[in-house]
Amino acid sequence: MIEQATEYILGAQPPELARLDAQSRHYAPATRDALLQAGLRPGMRVLDIGCGTGGVSLVAADIVGPTGEVVGVDAAPAPLEVARRAAEATGRYQARFEVGDLETWEPAEAYDALTGRLVAMYLPDAAAVLRRLSRSLVAGGIVVLQEFSMSSALQRPESPEFRVWNSWFIEAFRASGLPTDFGLELNDLLVRSGVVPEGAVAAAPVESGADATGYQLLAGIIRTLMPAIIAHGIATEEEIDIESFERRARETGADPRTTLMIPLLCSAWGRTPG
Ligand SMILES: C[S@@+](CC[C@H](N)C(=O)[O-])C[C@H]1O[C@@H](n2cnc3c(N)ncnc32)[C@H](O)[C@@H]1O
Repeated sequence: MIEQATEYILGAQPPELARLDAQSRHYAPATRDALLQAGLRPGMRVLDIGCGTGGVSLVAADIVGPTGEVVGVDAAPAPLEVARRAAEATGRYQARFEVGDLETWEPAEAYDALTGRLVAMYLPDAAAVLRRLSRSLVAGGIVVLQEFSMSSALQRPESPEFRVWNSWFIEAFRASGLPTDFGLELNDLLVRSGVVPEGAVAAAPVESGADATGYQLLAGIIRTLMPAIIAHGIATEEEIDIESFERRARETGADPRTTLMIPLLCSAWGRTPG
């Protein structure tokens, strides 16, 4: 059996934070749509767990507006600085950020909703964390979880390189004991967390041609996971050739008819028993 890595595998180095930010911008419409469908409304108080650079917190802040409140929590201080700066620069004073390890962090107040994007997959017992944190929600509080289906990424027509490169990061997560299609297990996670599921949706931007942001995101995740890719014997440093990777990835999409769909972001939501 493959053991799950105890350290957060993506780290918080500047290139990874830039990748996370670019990814957040790309998935912002899908995130906003899911939060609205889940029932987030102006005036609500929202807890965003594993908030990173604040991608979900800032979308939630726009929905709850100045009469609401968003608290983002993350174990790493560096992404929270990025989140704070973005919130201040855009006047989203209803969003604030706290350092905390979700395994032990306790909310000091009651929330109307809990959001968590791309964080449950890293928690060894996500249901236990969610069960505990959802006790800080009001009765009938909203829980929205978002995770990828990594295997859903497609390029059409598919270049042989794309198929191989796409398998590299999936294999790196798998070899590190992390789930790769966790987005399809969210209803199960909600139920195990004591949340009654209400709805689910999956969405991803679809782009064409060499300018697609998806190639930048692919290069970014390969760069971050390079140590794991090499350590697990998935590809060598020479095969990855990270400095030319993004250019080569874009070349596979040079024909403007080439279509790229990056991994579907699956969202599932429900409510705590009321
Ligand atoms: C892939 S990032 C996602 C960030 C953000 N939710 C987003 O979608 O852009 C995962 C985040 O979870 C945080 N994280 C992982 N394990 C954590 C834990 N036990 N407690 C708090 N944060 C954690 C990491 O520091 C990282 O910022």
